[in-house]
Amino acid sequence: TANQMWGGRFAAGPDAIMEAINASIGFDKRLAAQDIAGSRAHAAMLAAQGIISDSDAEAIREGLLTVLSEIEGGSFQFSTALEDIHMNVEARLKEIIGAPAGRLHTARSRNDQVATDFRLWVRDQFDAAEGGLLALIRALMSQAEAGADWVMPGFTHLQTAQPVTWGHHMMAYVEMFGRDLSRVRDARARMNESPLGAAALAGTSFPIDRHMTAKALGFDAPCANSLDAVSDRDFALEFLSVASISAMHLSRLAEELVIWSSAQFRFVALSDRFSTGSSIMPQKKNPDAAELIRAKVGRIFGANTALMMVMKGLALTYSKDMQEDKEQVFDAADNWMLALAAMTGMVTDMTARRDNLAAAAGSGFSTATDLADWLVRVLNLPFRDAHHVTGSLVAVAEKKGCDLPDLSLAEMQAVHADITEDVFAVLGVENSVNSRMSYGGTAPAQVRAQIDRWKARLG
Ligand code: ARG
Repeated sequence: TANQMWGGRFAAGPDAIMEAINASIGFDKRLAAQDIAGSRAHAAMLAAQGIISDSDAEAIREGLLTVLSEIEGGSFQFSTALEDIHMNVEARLKEIIGAPAGRLHTARSRNDQVATDFRLWVRDQFDAAEGGLLALIRALMSQAEAGADWVMPGFTHLQTAQPVTWGHHMMAYVEMFGRDLSRVRDARARMNESPLGAAALAGTSFPIDRHMTAKALGFDAPCANSLDAVSDRDFALEFLSVASISAMHLSRLAEELVIWSSAQFRFVALSDRFSTGSSIMPQKKNPDAAELIRAKVGRIFGANTALMMVMKGLALTYSKDMQEDKEQVFDAADNWMLALAAMTGMVTDMTARRDNLAAAAGSGFSTATDLADWLVRVLNLPFRDAHHVTGSLVAVAEKKGCDLPDLSLAEMQAVHADITEDVFAVLGVENSVNSRMSYGGTAPAQVRAQIDRWKARLG
């Protein structure tokens, strides 16, 4: 049988394969609440403009509320033959209220309808991401505050570089997730315009009020160009690109937690609540949540790339290709939110092993730069010469199997005769971090200043 929405020009119904490739109800049922909100706003506007009667609008309003409660209650029968959420809702509305249901689609198309529904859904996800990022930032700040002056090794190339503080390392991630937060807010502000009333692509001859529906749905304004309104998916792409960058940050932190929780590092203990065991090796406590967060970047990045590819060659305006936008965004959003929550839990629960961090901070000649700086400051050597002298001292220590502070003054003077006893004061890790007082440096006082700036920013 021909389709009940456009059966007028069709003699036969679709092939089963056609139905299978065409239907989106399997996933776009997630837009039900947004679809009904959009239809309610549209019907109220049609009545206010005298395009449909108040009694039809009232019947539509009540009918839509019934449909929503059926969907929320799980009794709604979704039909693949009805293709998508928009037609499923409208068909059920017709069953419930009869003829007035047929007036709902006046001055509207599924093109502006789906663009509106999807924007509303993505907007909610921006808001959820904001909450998730704020929670993670707060968890990182608590860790930073507790360990503002705990020394640990700072790395480049994963080789010991210079001592830093635990608080400084935690606050580095606060900066990253803080940028994600500002990208979320930015993108949300940009996307908050209503496509509703763009109709199929050209606008409509009915005297609609797009400002009214925009306002009712919490948009700042109607989209200014009807062609753009139905063919734009930048809001979804911005969501995916923000999510990709944020997932990349999550993945880097996850990688550090995997390394830090290993028996070879022992920098942190993850809580039992966020670890798993092994079915064969009784001693194991595995950082599975961190590993999965590390992996999530793959699918989120994949979604971003996939939608870019879907959109890149589409002539204006709507093409069915665009139906492929939703699954990618749904999957990326679900996994980003889950990763944010899991990371927040891990960070909140983890215990930094202060003694191990301090022991590691002092090994690997981590204060070699401090020694070179001392040679410049006190002996007035050019930095390049100081670098060479220090390198020779490191070689001596390495040969002897000790760290720099364990060398005797005589051994040092054998490398450079002018070195004095004072040098030992700069070889300690505490001294090293305390001296890094430059703005944004690792000195505990600077770390506390960073934390205070973030507290003021978050209010
Ligand atoms: N299910 C469709 C989508 O997700 C809705 C829009 C259909 N519009 C159309 N002209 N066929 O994009």
